Amino acid sequence: KQVIFSGIQPTGVPHLGNYLGALQQWVRLQNSAGPSTKLLYSVVDLHAITVQQDPKQLRQWRREVLATLIAIGLNPDRSILFYQSSVQAHAELMWILSCTASMGYLSRMTQWKSKLSLKDDASPLDTGSKAKLKLGLFSYPVLQAADIMVHRATHVPVGEDQSQHLEFARECVTNFNHAYGPHLVEPTTITSPAKRVMSLQDARQKMSKSHPDPRSRIVLTDTPNEIKRKVMSALTDSTNAVSYDPENRPGVSNLLELLSHLDESGRTPSELGSVYSNLNLKEFKTILSDALSESLSTFRDQYHKIMAEDEGRYLDHVAIKGAKKARESAEETMVLVREAIGF
Ligand code: TYM
Repeated sequence: KQVIFSGIQPTGVPHLGNYLGALQQWVRLQNSAGPSTKLLYSVVDLHAITVQQDPKQLRQWRREVLATLIAIGLNPDRSILFYQSSVQAHAELMWILSCTASMGYLSRMTQWKSKLSLKDDASPLDTGSKAKLKLGLFSYPVLQAADIMVHRATHVPVGEDQSQHLEFARECVTNFNHAYGPHLVEPTTITSPAKRVMSLQDARQKMSKSHPDPRSRIVLTDTPNEIKRKVMSALTDSTNAVSYDPENRPGVSNLLELLSHLDESGRTPSELGSVYSNLNLKEFKTILSDALSESLSTFRDQYHKIMAEDEGRYLDHVAIKGAKKARESAEETMVLVREAIGF
């Protein structure tokens, strides 16, 4: 039986990287799944608090991300949409997996290592900064493994930046099954063609929610004007012409890649590079920003409609229904796990 699981952190309205790298694939999987396939998509609020959040802001972001999932085309009657914190089994299984997970493996994760060096850069005077890093940030991948395993997920659609976490999840399955018997399922990673969408301000960095410069990302709710402003100020190079050359012209090439992901006839970035080779950068950026506005317009309307509807009561209803189904799904696994451990 196929079970599809994935998650997204409620740390603001998702951006184009989230959409092209993951969310769009979630919808495709939903729409092509046979009736026996179970789909679960979670707003992972337990993961979000590995960095301290303002409670009011977090509550708002959870709703915004849930509304986003519905507005992009996930159907709450087909896919189970839920807040991670409303299904306690995620945290319970995390603890159990912690008891067979390896510290050495965790300390080699790039996300953790990047946090270590970031702290050092941020404040060289603060010699205690490593000690102040939070345990939750270190064990973050164990919770992610639990998310996947508690629903016996067979397939996990994510962007490329999550592949190391997925590898670790498979390691958790091996360790647990070795200790207690073959009760947990090994998940397969599904990556979309847009596995790594790059920043508009630096084509060597991925587009991310946490980057301080908001011009580096297109947020899904951006208006056509905002989109235009961001695309126009996207960092390119001093050659005022269009060509696809990721090595030497990462900025323009990144924009061609974006356009290619939106292109309905599926032309590659290099094909589009030749198609638009007679344009200057300003003309080309106008084409890209129009294409972006156009492809996000339905989403934008849907999103605002959902947020306005019944002052959010609809979202509460979806969340309650989703939590109930997700609890049932998780409980099936937890019965086996508790039995196997001796509880
Ligand atoms: P998060 O919230 O950072 O991102 C959600 C999804 O968006 C993808 N993504 C990108 N894809 C391509 N290009 C980009 N620039 C880009 N930025 C983000 C991410 O790969 C992800 O698929 N740890 C996860 C959430 C999580 C999870 C899970 C995922 C928690 N438990 C279990 C899968 C299964 C995260 O922080 O995603």
